[in-house]
Amino acid sequence: MANKTFLTDIQTLRKRAREHIEKGAVTEGYHADRETVLKLLNEALATEIICVLRYRRHHFMATGINSQSVAAEFLQHANEEQAHADEIAQRIVQLGGEPNLEPDGLSSRSHSEYVEGDGLLDMIKEDLIAERIAIDSYREMIKYCGNDDPTTRRMLEGILAMEEEHADDLVSLLEQLGVS
Ligand SMILES: [Fe+2]
Ligand SMILES: [Fe+2]
Repeated sequence: MANKTFLTDIQTLRKRAREHIEKGAVTEGYHADRETVLKLLNEALATEIICVLRYRRHHFMATGINSQSVAAEFLQHANEEQAHADEIAQRIVQLGGEPNLEPDGLSSRSHSEYVEGDGLLDMIKEDLIAERIAIDSYREMIKYCGNDDPTTRRMLEGILAMEEEHADDLVSLLEQLGVS
């Protein structure tokens, strides 16, 4: 069931990312389409905030055997997602935009979903799905920025590297629990 949700989400994500990218028009001086970059960054910001909330929920709800180390990992990820959100918000302001932290519509602006998860294993799987969505969406954004906005691209590359680490951490947790 989780796999099915995952495939659908990726397709939606890619479709949406492409829709924004096709609107691209090159401006003078700043060679990316600023409005599109701001829109993509605000979607990434919403994604990070949803990830913070999901990981924090999982941190507090982790119970059972092996739960302590998993709960600690969830908390670490939550804090790192918050740091990503802060970096993105800062970059939005640098580009003359405003970070959209409006709670209404937050989950629909986010690429990944807020899934509470039923038990430790389910939580880890949901977090892994969310990381994989984030990885694909950051890759698309990096490709879009290309050489037109190298500053945003470098920031996104740093975030992508950490999302890949997160996904790897979660796979290791699944292995430790003997379910991978
Ligand atoms: Fe993140
Ligand atoms: Fe992550």
